[in-house]
Amino acid sequence: MGRVIVVGSINQDVTVQVDRLPERGETLTGRSVTHRLGGKGANQAAAAAHGGAETLFVGAVGGDASGAALREELASHGVDVSHLADADTTTGTAFITVSADGENTIVLEVGANGLVGGDALDAVEGLGAGDVLVLQGEVPPAANAAAVAAAKAAGARVVLNLAPVYDVADEVLADVDVLVVNETEAGLTAGAPAPAGPQEALDLAATLIGRGPAAVLITLGKQGSVWTDGDESGAVPAIDLGPVVDTTGAGDASVGVLAAALAAGYPLGEAVGAGMRAGSTAVLGAGAASSYRAIEPLEPAPAR
Ligand code: RIB
Repeated sequence: MGRVIVVGSINQDVTVQVDRLPERGETLTGRSVTHRLGGKGANQAAAAAHGGAETLFVGAVGGDASGAALREELASHGVDVSHLADADTTTGTAFITVSADGENTIVLEVGANGLVGGDALDAVEGLGAGDVLVLQGEVPPAANAAAVAAAKAAGARVVLNLAPVYDVADEVLADVDVLVVNETEAGLTAGAPAPAGPQEALDLAATLIGRGPAAVLITLGKQGSVWTDGDESGAVPAIDLGPVVDTTGAGDASVGVLAAALAAGYPLGEAVGAGMRAGSTAVLGAGAASSYRAIEPLEPAPAR
C-alpha cells in the first residue's frame, strides 16, 4: 500500500457563525467564533489519514502561536508533520462565515503558504510507485509544477485539485493522473460555461481530458460527481447522511479519501465513491478537519 503525500496549504480557520451570509456592504452580527485547523492541503492530509493511508504533509506555518497549534492539531489526525516547515512569517489565515444552512464564504490570507517552493519534495525519502501526491491551488503554482515533475520522475501518481483555480499549463496537466475540479473550476479551466448537471459535466470532463490529465473528476455539490478517464466514465450521486451543519472542507475530505483509496489500490470509480462518502460525512459536523474524525477507514482493497 502506497503513501499519500500532500504538498499544500495549512491555515488557521477563523470561523464565525451567522444566520445568513452577508450582502455586499452589509454588517451582520455573528456568534461563536472558533479557531481551528484548516487549509485545503492540511484538510486533505487529515482526511487521507482518517481514510487509513500513511500520510505525509509538506507545507509551511509561520513562527507564531497559531503555527505551533496547527502543527499539533494536524499531527493529532495521524498525519506525519515532520516536513512541515517553520517560516519566518505569519501562518496562513482563512476568515470564514458559515450560515445556518451550512453554506460558507472564505477570504484567505496566504501567509507562510506563499513560501512553499519548488524544492518541497526534495527531502521526502523513498517517493515512488504506489505513492499518491496531492496538490491544490493554495501554494504557488511554480511549487505545484515542480512537485508534479518530481512525482512523475519517481513514478508516483498525482491528484491535482485545482482549487482555488489558477491558470495551469498543459505540460503540467499532462503529468496529472486525476484532475479534481468543481463545476465552476471546470468551466474556468476548460474556457467554457460551468456545467448545469451531470451530462454537461461529463461532456466537459471529456474536453478537459484533451488538455492532458489521465482522468478528470468534476464535483457538482448536491448533484454528486462525474468522472472519466477517456475510456470509462461514471456518475456518483450525492449521499445524504443527515442534516448539513457546515460544508467547509467537505470537498477536501473527498479529495483526501480519494487519494487514500487510490494508494490502497482501489480503481478510480470506487475511489471516487469512497471520497464522496467522506465528503458527505464531513458536512455533518462543524469546521473542516475537525469534522473528519467520523470518517471511517477504508477496508483493504480486494486483490484483483
Ligand atoms: O476548503 C476549505 C478550506 O479552504 C478552509 O479550511 C480554508 O482554510 C480554506 O483554505
